[in-house]
Amino acid sequence: MKLLKDKVMAEGIVLGDQVLKVDSFLNHQMDPNLMKEIGREFVQRFEGQKITKILTIESSGIAPAIMTALELNVPMIFARKNKSLTLKNDIFVEKVYSFTKRETNEITVSKKFMHSNDNVLIIDDFLANGEAAFGLARIVQQSGANVVGIGIVIEKSFQPGAKLLQEAGFKLESLVKIASLENNTVTFVEE
Ligand code: G4P
Repeated sequence: MKLLKDKVMAEGIVLGDQVLKVDSFLNHQMDPNLMKEIGREFVQRFEGQKITKILTIESSGIAPAIMTALELNVPMIFARKNKSLTLKNDIFVEKVYSFTKRETNEITVSKKFMHSNDNVLIIDDFLANGEAAFGLARIVQQSGANVVGIGIVIEKSFQPGAKLLQEAGFKLESLVKIASLENNTVTFVEE
């Protein structure tokens, strides 16, 4: 997605050779016009699938997820990271380990909002090790619903998540793929 690549080149800040800071348009300040285009792009890439819900995880997944949901006119659910006050019987719970933050979060989704007849598209802002995406997929599976696919705004292809998700059989669509962040430079995967 050229618009997104241009934005990464213009505003992305490389931190070490593992982390890309994009807090001017995705992780802190958000660019609504870019999010709108991201929503449209995801809808095109998953065209023909009968998506009934979008699922993401708070907080930075919410913007691209809601714009995709708006394009499709379906609800968007974000998994919560904090422990909900609701009774455990009413929620789907999965553990997600963050390598970046070195902590395990319990992510939760209310059973009210996901059912066995749903076709769910998972959306997230970054794909690194795939922990968040796998955790979200396990929540969908707990509900008995179907994972249509996984849409990622920025994939760090040099980390294992993308390969692991594809090996697990998920249809993965990443809008930009980063091959390397070495030498303070963003290198995209050639397509
Ligand atoms: P994984 O889910 O693919 O295994 O990734 P990981 O645990 O490493 O990521 C943990 C958090 O760090 C996630 O955000 C993820 O989006 C973010 N992250 C991972 N790599 C990068 C990167 O290179 N740049 C930026 N900016 N973020 C990265 P989170 O904890 O869910 O935070 P938020 O959604 O509340 O912002």
